[in-house]
Amino acid sequence: MNAYTIADLKAQAQRRVPRMFFDYADSGSWTEGTYRSNEEDFHKVLFRQRVAVDMTNRSLKSTMVGDEVSMPVAIAPTGFGGMQHPDGEMLGARAARAFGIPFTLSTMSICSIEDVSEATGGAPFWFQLYVMRDREFMYNLIDRAKAAGCSALVLTLDLQILGQRHKDLRNGLSAPPKINLNTFWQLASRPRWCLSMLKTKRHTFRNIVGHAKSVGDLSSLSSWTAEQFDPQLSWKDIEWIKERWGGKLILKGIMDPEDARMAAASGADALIVSNHGGRQLDGAPSSLAALPAIVEAVGDKIEVHMDGGIRSGQDVMRALCLGAKGVYIGRPWLYGVAAGGEAGVKTALDIIRKELDLTMAFCGERDIRNAGRHNLVNPD
Ligand code: FNR
Repeated sequence: MNAYTIADLKAQAQRRVPRMFFDYADSGSWTEGTYRSNEEDFHKVLFRQRVAVDMTNRSLKSTMVGDEVSMPVAIAPTGFGGMQHPDGEMLGARAARAFGIPFTLSTMSICSIEDVSEATGGAPFWFQLYVMRDREFMYNLIDRAKAAGCSALVLTLDLQILGQRHKDLRNGLSAPPKINLNTFWQLASRPRWCLSMLKTKRHTFRNIVGHAKSVGDLSSLSSWTAEQFDPQLSWKDIEWIKERWGGKLILKGIMDPEDARMAAASGADALIVSNHGGRQLDGAPSSLAALPAIVEAVGDKIEVHMDGGIRSGQDVMRALCLGAKGVYIGRPWLYGVAAGGEAGVKTALDIIRKELDLTMAFCGERDIRNAGRHNLVNPD
Protein backbone atom coordinates (compact mmCIF):
# COMPACT_ATOMS: atom_id res chain seq x y z
CA MET A 1 0.00 0.00 0.00
CA ASN A 2 1.08 3.52 -0.74
CA ALA A 3 1.27 4.87 2.80
CA TYR A 4 4.30 6.02 4.76
CA THR A 5 2.64 7.47 7.82
CA ILE A 6 -0.54 6.93 9.84
CA ALA A 7 -1.66 10.32 8.44
CA ASP A 8 -1.47 8.84 4.91
CA LEU A 9 -3.78 6.01 6.00
CA LYS A 10 -6.13 8.50 7.61
CA ALA A 11 -6.40 10.46 4.35
CA GLN A 12 -7.13 7.26 2.42
CA ALA A 13 -9.72 6.20 5.01
CA GLN A 14 -11.50 9.51 4.63
CA ARG A 15 -11.78 8.98 0.87
CA ARG A 16 -13.17 5.45 1.24
CA VAL A 17 -15.61 5.46 4.13
CA PRO A 18 -18.97 7.29 4.37
CA ARG A 19 -18.67 10.44 6.45
CA MET A 20 -20.68 9.12 9.41
CA PHE A 21 -18.11 6.33 9.99
CA PHE A 22 -14.98 8.36 9.29
CA ASP A 23 -16.21 11.09 11.63
CA TYR A 24 -17.18 8.51 14.26
CA ALA A 25 -13.52 7.53 14.44
CA ASP A 26 -12.07 10.99 13.91
CA SER A 27 -13.86 12.82 16.70
CA GLY A 28 -13.94 13.51 20.39
CA SER A 29 -16.52 14.80 22.82
CA TRP A 30 -17.75 18.41 23.16
CA THR A 31 -14.97 20.83 22.10
CA GLU A 32 -12.60 17.94 21.26
CA GLY A 33 -9.93 19.69 23.35
CA THR A 34 -8.82 16.50 25.10
CA TYR A 35 -8.89 14.60 21.81
CA ARG A 36 -6.47 17.17 20.33
CA SER A 37 -4.18 17.36 23.38
CA ASN A 38 -3.83 13.55 23.36
CA GLU A 39 -1.90 13.93 20.09
CA GLU A 40 -0.29 17.32 20.67
CA ASP A 41 1.28 16.52 24.05
CA PHE A 42 3.48 13.83 22.50
CA HIS A 43 5.41 16.50 20.61
CA LYS A 44 6.49 18.17 23.86
CA VAL A 45 8.51 15.09 24.87
CA LEU A 46 12.00 15.25 23.37
CA PHE A 47 14.47 12.42 22.85
CA ARG A 48 18.09 12.32 23.92
CA GLN A 49 20.04 11.41 20.80
CA ARG A 50 23.12 9.23 21.34
CA VAL A 51 25.95 8.42 18.90
CA ALA A 52 28.75 5.90 18.60
CA VAL A 53 26.85 3.18 20.44
CA ASP A 54 26.37 -0.34 19.09
CA MET A 55 23.05 -0.44 17.19
CA THR A 56 23.16 -4.03 15.98
CA ASN A 57 20.82 -6.84 17.06
CA ARG A 58 17.94 -4.66 18.14
CA SER A 59 14.83 -6.14 19.73
CA LEU A 60 11.32 -4.74 20.15
CA LYS A 61 10.06 -7.87 21.89
CA SER A 62 8.40 -7.52 25.25
CA THR A 63 5.42 -8.81 27.24
CA MET A 64 2.02 -7.38 28.13
CA VAL A 65 0.29 -9.08 31.07
CA GLY A 66 2.56 -12.04 30.44
CA ASP A 67 1.66 -12.44 26.74
CA GLU A 68 4.71 -12.25 24.50
CA VAL A 69 4.46 -9.40 22.00
CA SER A 70 6.63 -8.61 18.97
CA MET A 71 6.43 -4.95 20.06
CA PRO A 72 4.69 -3.50 23.14
CA VAL A 73 1.67 -2.29 21.17
CA ALA A 74 -1.85 -3.73 21.25
CA ILE A 75 -4.92 -2.91 19.19
CA ALA A 76 -7.43 -0.99 21.31
CA PRO A 77 -11.08 -2.00 21.50
CA THR A 78 -13.18 0.16 19.19
CA GLY A 79 -16.89 -0.01 18.45
CA PHE A 80 -18.26 -0.12 14.87
CA GLY A 81 -14.93 -1.51 13.50
CA GLY A 82 -16.84 -3.61 10.97
CA MET A 83 -18.33 -0.44 9.50
CA GLN A 84 -14.93 0.95 8.55
CA HIS A 85 -14.51 -2.10 6.32
CA PRO A 86 -16.67 -5.22 5.95
CA ASP A 87 -15.64 -7.76 8.60
CA GLY A 88 -13.21 -5.15 9.95
CA GLU A 89 -12.61 -6.73 13.35
CA MET A 90 -11.92 -10.14 11.81
CA LEU A 91 -9.34 -8.56 9.49
CA GLY A 92 -7.79 -6.53 12.30
CA ALA A 93 -7.48 -9.60 14.50
CA ARG A 94 -5.83 -11.54 11.68
CA ALA A 95 -3.34 -8.75 11.01
CA ALA A 96 -2.52 -8.44 14.72
CA ARG A 97 -2.03 -12.17 15.00
CA ALA A 98 0.33 -12.25 12.01
CA PHE A 99 2.23 -9.41 13.65
CA GLY A 100 2.42 -11.03 17.07
CA ILE A 101 0.54 -8.37 19.02
CA PRO A 102 -2.78 -8.53 20.92
CA PHE A 103 -6.07 -7.57 19.28
CA THR A 104 -8.76 -6.35 21.68
CA LEU A 105 -12.33 -6.94 20.52
CA SER A 106 -14.92 -4.42 21.74
CA THR A 107 -18.27 -5.51 23.14
CA MET A 108 -19.68 -2.98 20.65
CA SER A 109 -17.94 -4.53 17.67
CA ILE A 110 -19.78 -5.47 14.50
CA CYS A 111 -18.15 -8.93 14.23
CA SER A 112 -18.88 -11.18 17.19
CA ILE A 113 -16.50 -12.96 19.57
CA GLU A 114 -17.17 -16.15 17.62
CA ASP A 115 -16.59 -14.48 14.21
CA VAL A 116 -13.18 -13.24 15.38
CA SER A 117 -12.27 -16.58 16.90
CA GLU A 118 -13.06 -18.23 13.57
CA ALA A 119 -11.01 -15.61 11.70
CA THR A 120 -7.92 -16.20 13.85
CA GLY A 121 -8.26 -19.99 13.72
CA GLY A 122 -8.86 -20.10 17.47
CA ALA A 123 -5.72 -18.11 18.34
CA PRO A 124 -6.19 -16.03 21.50
CA PHE A 125 -7.23 -12.40 21.38
CA TRP A 126 -8.36 -10.02 24.15
CA PHE A 127 -11.96 -9.09 24.88
CA GLN A 128 -13.26 -5.76 26.20
CA LEU A 129 -16.29 -5.61 28.45
CA TYR A 130 -18.47 -2.90 29.99
CA VAL A 131 -20.08 -3.32 33.40
CA MET A 132 -23.78 -3.82 32.71
CA ARG A 133 -26.83 -3.96 34.93
CA ASP A 134 -27.94 -7.27 33.42
CA ARG A 135 -25.43 -9.51 35.19
CA GLU A 136 -26.66 -12.64 33.40
CA PHE A 137 -25.83 -11.01 30.09
CA MET A 138 -22.38 -10.03 31.38
CA TYR A 139 -21.78 -13.58 32.59
CA ASN A 140 -22.80 -14.80 29.18
CA LEU A 141 -20.31 -12.48 27.43
CA ILE A 142 -17.56 -13.51 29.86
CA ASP A 143 -18.31 -17.17 29.23
CA ARG A 144 -18.33 -16.66 25.46
CA ALA A 145 -14.95 -14.90 25.68
CA LYS A 146 -13.60 -17.78 27.76
CA ALA A 147 -14.96 -20.34 25.29
CA ALA A 148 -13.24 -18.47 22.45
CA GLY A 149 -9.93 -18.72 24.35
CA CYS A 150 -9.51 -14.99 24.99
CA SER A 151 -6.32 -14.55 27.00
CA ALA A 152 -7.20 -11.26 28.75
CA LEU A 153 -10.31 -9.33 29.71
CA VAL A 154 -10.16 -5.55 29.34
CA LEU A 155 -12.77 -3.98 31.60
CA THR A 156 -13.66 -0.45 30.57
CA LEU A 157 -14.49 1.79 33.54
CA ASP A 158 -14.89 5.21 31.92
CA LEU A 159 -18.07 4.75 29.91
CA GLN A 160 -20.86 4.09 32.37
CA ILE A 161 -22.50 7.13 30.79
CA LEU A 162 -21.90 8.20 27.23
CA GLY A 163 -19.92 11.37 26.35
CA GLN A 164 -21.52 13.64 23.78
CA ARG A 165 -19.99 13.58 20.33
CA HIS A 166 -21.65 16.18 18.15
CA LYS A 167 -20.51 14.83 14.79
CA ASP A 168 -22.33 11.52 15.34
CA LEU A 169 -25.56 13.32 16.11
CA ARG A 170 -25.23 15.56 13.04
CA ASN A 171 -24.29 12.73 10.66
CA GLY A 172 -27.10 10.36 11.67
CA LEU A 173 -24.70 7.55 12.64
CA SER A 174 -26.18 4.05 12.65
CA ALA A 175 -25.19 0.45 11.95
CA PRO A 176 -26.33 -0.53 9.41
CA PRO A 177 -26.65 2.97 7.97
CA LYS A 178 -30.19 4.17 7.37
CA ILE A 179 -30.94 5.87 4.10
CA ASN A 180 -32.59 9.26 4.50
CA LEU A 181 -32.08 12.84 3.33
CA ASN A 182 -29.15 13.31 5.70
CA THR A 183 -27.29 10.12 4.84
CA PHE A 184 -28.08 9.66 1.14
CA TRP A 185 -25.08 11.61 -0.19
CA GLN A 186 -22.77 10.26 2.49
CA LEU A 187 -23.49 6.79 1.11
CA ALA A 188 -23.94 7.61 -2.58
CA SER A 189 -20.49 9.21 -2.67
CA ARG A 190 -18.89 5.98 -1.45
CA PRO A 191 -20.24 3.36 -3.93
CA ARG A 192 -17.30 0.94 -3.47
CA TRP A 193 -17.85 0.85 0.27
CA CYS A 194 -21.60 0.28 -0.22
CA LEU A 195 -21.03 -2.57 -2.69
CA SER A 196 -18.45 -4.27 -0.47
CA MET A 197 -20.78 -3.99 2.54
CA LEU A 198 -23.54 -5.75 0.62
CA LYS A 199 -21.27 -8.80 0.38
CA THR A 200 -21.04 -9.40 4.13
CA LYS A 201 -23.74 -10.51 6.52
CA ARG A 202 -22.24 -8.55 9.40
CA HIS A 203 -23.94 -5.16 9.64
CA THR A 204 -24.78 -4.62 13.28
CA PHE A 205 -23.48 -5.32 16.79
CA ARG A 206 -23.33 -9.10 16.72
CA ASN A 207 -22.15 -9.55 20.33
CA ILE A 208 -25.36 -8.11 21.69
CA VAL A 209 -27.89 -9.33 19.11
CA GLY A 210 -30.77 -10.91 20.94
CA HIS A 211 -30.16 -8.90 24.09
CA ALA A 212 -30.75 -5.51 22.54
CA LYS A 213 -33.50 -5.83 19.97
CA SER A 214 -32.59 -2.90 17.79
CA VAL A 215 -29.66 -0.69 18.74
CA GLY A 216 -28.43 0.27 15.29
CA ASP A 217 -29.10 4.00 15.36
CA LEU A 218 -27.59 6.47 17.76
CA SER A 219 -30.68 7.28 19.79
CA SER A 220 -31.54 3.61 20.38
CA LEU A 221 -27.86 2.87 21.09
CA SER A 222 -27.72 5.73 23.60
CA SER A 223 -30.89 4.59 25.34
CA TRP A 224 -29.66 0.98 25.45
CA THR A 225 -26.36 2.20 26.92
CA ALA A 226 -28.18 4.35 29.48
CA GLU A 227 -30.43 1.40 30.37
CA GLN A 228 -27.67 -1.22 30.46
CA PHE A 229 -24.33 0.31 31.50
CA ASP A 230 -24.37 0.33 35.27
CA PRO A 231 -23.93 3.84 36.71
CA GLN A 232 -23.52 2.33 40.18
CA LEU A 233 -20.30 0.58 39.19
CA SER A 234 -17.97 0.29 42.19
CA TRP A 235 -14.66 -1.41 43.05
CA LYS A 236 -16.70 -4.27 44.57
CA ASP A 237 -18.00 -5.16 41.09
CA ILE A 238 -14.46 -5.57 39.90
CA GLU A 239 -13.90 -8.26 42.51
CA TRP A 240 -16.74 -10.47 41.26
CA ILE A 241 -15.91 -9.87 37.60
CA LYS A 242 -12.32 -10.91 38.32
CA GLU A 243 -13.55 -14.03 40.05
CA ARG A 244 -16.02 -14.95 37.32
CA TRP A 245 -13.42 -14.35 34.58
CA GLY A 246 -10.58 -16.12 36.38
CA GLY A 247 -7.90 -14.93 33.93
CA LYS A 248 -5.81 -11.84 33.22
CA LEU A 249 -7.74 -8.66 33.96
CA ILE A 250 -6.90 -5.18 32.61
CA LEU A 251 -8.73 -2.08 33.90
CA LYS A 252 -9.20 0.61 31.25
CA GLY A 253 -9.89 4.30 31.72
CA ILE A 254 -7.75 5.25 34.73
CA MET A 255 -6.66 8.91 34.77
CA ASP A 256 -6.06 9.63 38.44
CA PRO A 257 -3.37 8.32 40.83
CA GLU A 258 -6.01 7.69 43.51
CA ASP A 259 -8.01 5.45 41.14
CA ALA A 260 -4.76 3.83 40.05
CA ARG A 261 -4.09 2.83 43.68
CA MET A 262 -7.58 1.31 43.86
CA ALA A 263 -6.91 -0.54 40.61
CA ALA A 264 -3.64 -1.93 41.99
CA ALA A 265 -5.39 -2.98 45.21
CA SER A 266 -8.13 -4.74 43.20
CA GLY A 267 -5.64 -7.38 42.11
CA ALA A 268 -6.00 -6.59 38.41
CA ASP A 269 -2.98 -7.45 36.26
CA ALA A 270 -2.75 -4.10 34.47
CA LEU A 271 -4.41 -0.73 34.15
CA ILE A 272 -4.69 1.45 31.08
CA VAL A 273 -4.15 5.18 31.50
CA SER A 274 -6.82 6.31 29.06
CA ASN A 275 -9.39 9.04 28.51
CA HIS A 276 -11.17 6.92 25.89
CA GLY A 277 -9.38 8.73 23.08
CA GLY A 278 -10.86 12.08 24.18
CA ARG A 279 -14.38 10.76 23.64
CA GLN A 280 -15.70 10.96 27.19
CA LEU A 281 -14.67 13.75 29.62
CA ASP A 282 -13.57 16.66 27.44
CA GLY A 283 -11.34 18.96 29.49
CA ALA A 284 -9.47 16.05 31.08
CA PRO A 285 -5.69 16.07 30.56
CA SER A 286 -4.14 14.04 27.78
CA SER A 287 -3.34 10.43 28.67
CA LEU A 288 0.37 11.17 28.22
CA ALA A 289 0.17 14.04 30.72
CA ALA A 290 -1.59 11.77 33.23
CA LEU A 291 0.87 8.89 32.81
CA PRO A 292 3.90 9.92 34.94
CA ALA A 293 1.96 10.52 38.17
CA ILE A 294 0.22 7.17 37.80
CA VAL A 295 3.49 5.35 37.13
CA GLU A 296 4.93 7.01 40.21
CA ALA A 297 1.92 6.01 42.32
CA VAL A 298 1.61 2.33 41.30
CA GLY A 299 4.27 1.43 38.73
CA ASP A 300 5.85 -1.20 40.99
CA LYS A 301 2.50 -2.79 41.97
CA ILE A 302 0.63 -3.21 38.68
CA GLU A 303 1.53 -3.11 34.99
CA VAL A 304 0.78 0.35 33.62
CA HIS A 305 -0.36 0.61 29.99
CA MET A 306 -1.60 3.72 28.17
CA ASP A 307 -3.52 4.80 25.11
CA GLY A 308 -4.63 8.00 23.44
CA GLY A 309 -3.04 10.00 20.63
CA ILE A 310 -0.38 7.53 19.51
CA ARG A 311 0.16 8.19 15.80
CA SER A 312 3.70 6.90 15.28
CA GLY A 313 6.34 4.58 16.62
CA GLN A 314 8.01 7.69 18.04
CA ASP A 315 4.93 8.25 20.21
CA VAL A 316 5.13 4.62 21.37
CA MET A 317 8.76 5.23 22.42
CA ARG A 318 7.77 8.43 24.28
CA ALA A 319 5.07 6.60 26.27
CA LEU A 320 7.45 3.75 27.10
CA CYS A 321 10.13 6.21 28.21
CA LEU A 322 7.59 7.77 30.58
CA GLY A 323 6.94 4.41 32.19
CA ALA A 324 4.23 2.60 30.19
CA LYS A 325 4.90 -1.12 29.83
CA GLY A 326 2.75 -1.21 26.69
CA VAL A 327 0.43 0.98 24.64
CA TYR A 328 -2.72 0.60 22.55
CA ILE A 329 -3.67 2.14 19.21
CA GLY A 330 -7.31 2.95 18.48
CA ARG A 331 -7.70 5.25 15.48
CA PRO A 332 -4.50 4.10 13.70
CA TRP A 333 -5.90 0.59 13.27
CA LEU A 334 -9.30 1.96 12.22
CA TYR A 335 -7.67 4.17 9.57
CA GLY A 336 -5.67 1.16 8.39
CA VAL A 337 -8.62 -1.18 8.09
CA ALA A 338 -10.74 1.52 6.41
CA ALA A 339 -7.97 2.26 3.92
CA GLY A 340 -7.13 -1.31 2.96
CA GLY A 341 -8.68 -4.07 5.07
CA GLU A 342 -6.20 -6.56 6.51
CA ALA A 343 -3.34 -5.16 4.38
CA GLY A 344 -4.17 -1.70 5.69
CA VAL A 345 -3.87 -2.81 9.33
CA LYS A 346 -0.58 -4.55 8.53
CA THR A 347 0.66 -1.34 6.91
CA ALA A 348 -0.28 0.65 10.03
CA LEU A 349 1.58 -1.82 12.23
CA ASP A 350 4.58 -1.88 9.88
CA ILE A 351 4.81 1.92 9.95
CA ILE A 352 4.69 1.98 13.74
CA ARG A 353 7.22 -0.84 14.09
CA LYS A 354 9.76 0.79 11.75
CA GLU A 355 9.42 4.17 13.45
CA LEU A 356 9.78 2.61 16.90
CA ASP A 357 12.81 0.58 15.88
CA LEU A 358 14.66 3.56 14.36
CA THR A 359 13.80 5.89 17.23
CA MET A 360 15.04 3.33 19.74
CA ALA A 361 18.30 3.04 17.80
CA PHE A 362 18.81 6.83 17.59
CA CYS A 363 18.35 6.94 21.36
CA GLY A 364 21.15 4.41 21.71
CA GLU A 365 18.99 1.50 22.93
CA ARG A 366 19.00 -2.00 21.51
CA ASP A 367 16.29 -3.57 23.66
CA ILE A 368 12.93 -1.82 23.94
CA ARG A 369 12.53 -3.11 27.50
CA ASN A 370 15.34 -0.77 28.54
CA ALA A 371 13.61 2.40 27.29
CA GLY A 372 13.18 4.89 30.10
CA ARG A 373 13.42 8.46 31.31
CA HIS A 374 17.16 8.42 30.63
CA ASN A 375 16.27 8.49 26.89
CA LEU A 376 14.52 11.85 27.22
CA VAL A 377 15.93 15.37 27.30
CA ASN A 378 13.09 16.82 29.35
CA PRO A 379 11.54 14.01 31.36
CA ASP A 380 9.70 16.28 33.84
C1 FNR B 1 -13.08 3.77 21.05
N1 FNR B 1 -12.72 3.36 22.33
C2 FNR B 1 -13.39 2.32 22.92
N2 FNR B 1 -12.98 1.83 24.13
C3 FNR B 1 -13.60 0.79 24.70
O1 FNR B 1 -13.20 0.37 25.78
N3 FNR B 1 -14.65 0.18 24.07
C4 FNR B 1 -15.12 0.61 22.87
O2 FNR B 1 -16.06 0.04 22.31
C5 FNR B 1 -14.49 1.74 22.28
N4 FNR B 1 -14.93 2.24 21.09
C6 FNR B 1 -14.20 3.21 20.43
C7 FNR B 1 -14.56 3.60 19.15
C8 FNR B 1 -13.77 4.50 18.47
C9 FNR B 1 -14.13 4.91 17.07
C10 FNR B 1 -12.62 5.05 19.07
C11 FNR B 1 -11.74 6.02 18.32
C12 FNR B 1 -12.29 4.69 20.34
C13 FNR B 1 -11.51 3.92 22.97
C14 FNR B 1 -10.27 3.15 22.53
O3 FNR B 1 -10.25 1.87 23.09
C15 FNR B 1 -8.99 3.86 22.96
O4 FNR B 1 -9.06 4.18 24.31
C16 FNR B 1 -8.70 5.12 22.14
O5 FNR B 1 -9.10 4.95 20.81
C17 FNR B 1 -7.23 5.45 22.19
O6 FNR B 1 -6.97 6.64 21.52
P1 FNR B 1 -6.46 6.70 19.99
O7 FNR B 1 -5.38 5.67 19.81
O8 FNR B 1 -7.65 6.43 19.13
O9 FNR B 1 -5.98 8.11 19.87
